[in-house]
Amino acid sequence: MEQGFFITGTDTNIGKTRATLTLMHYFQAQGKTVVGMKPVASGCDFIEGKLCNQDALLLQKNASVQLEYELINPFAYQAAISPHLAAEENPVVLPKIVSVFDVLKQHAQIVLVEGVGGWYVPLNQQGDDVESMASCLGLPVIMVVGMRLGCLNHARLTYQAIINSGLRCAGWLANCVDPVMQKLPENIDWLEQGIIAPLLGVLPYMPTADFKVLAKTIDFAGHINHNNNAVFHTNS
Ligand SMILES: Nc1ncnc2c1ncn2[C@@H]1O[C@H](COP(=O)(O)OP(=O)(O)OP(=O)(O)O)[C@@H](O)[C@H]1O
Ligand SMILES: [Mg+2]
Repeated sequence: MEQGFFITGTDTNIGKTRATLTLMHYFQAQGKTVVGMKPVASGCDFIEGKLCNQDALLLQKNASVQLEYELINPFAYQAAISPHLAAEENPVVLPKIVSVFDVLKQHAQIVLVEGVGGWYVPLNQQGDDVESMASCLGLPVIMVVGMRLGCLNHARLTYQAIINSGLRCAGWLANCVDPVMQKLPENIDWLEQGIIAPLLGVLPYMPTADFKVLAKTIDFAGHINHNNNAVFHTNS
């Protein structure tokens, strides 16, 4: 089993944190120790004098071991804007993220790392972005697709970008964020035809998440798409 996964998504606000927490519960149910990391977060509040992000707090709370906040989220910015614009001080430094990740690896069997926004979100003024963060960590990538109108294009673009980066796409998750999406199964089918990585689960629309239930929707073993005639044309 891998030591971790990098969780990205088709956009901001499409369920990366929901999916990461679901995977944490899934691995814990498999008897593994898991921690979550959100290396870069914008949109933070001061809690007891410290900038904290809601995603990172949830990852911290749901982990198998309780670790200090700075290990979960080393780069926290108050403004809810792109990190490269939010960081007036303490800009993102990728080697620092790698060294914190190495510490987390010593505390749990699996480390799940949530990106910020989508795959090409810029992180600093030096040209680093989410793609370079995932590459530095060298983790296989799990893509979360927020199932709503427009997601086929966003999913295809994101998948192509992951493949182009040279990282392995370990699988993808369909997260049903739109309770009235038309032709949902047909949309999922089309994505399955094009993505040569397993569909790891379909997370139902669920306004209040029940992670015990959601974890049961994950299947890492089965559902492998052996389609060699995928409809997406990738460069690899
Ligand atoms: N399957 C679902 N059913 C109902 N609500 C959902 C579902 N998935 C996510 N949501 C809700 O949508 C919102 C965004 O989800 P989430 O925070 O997981 O997205 P994200 O991609 O991590 O966002 P960010 O880019 O801010 O990190 C949350 O309020 C969450 O509770
Ligand atoms: Mg999130």
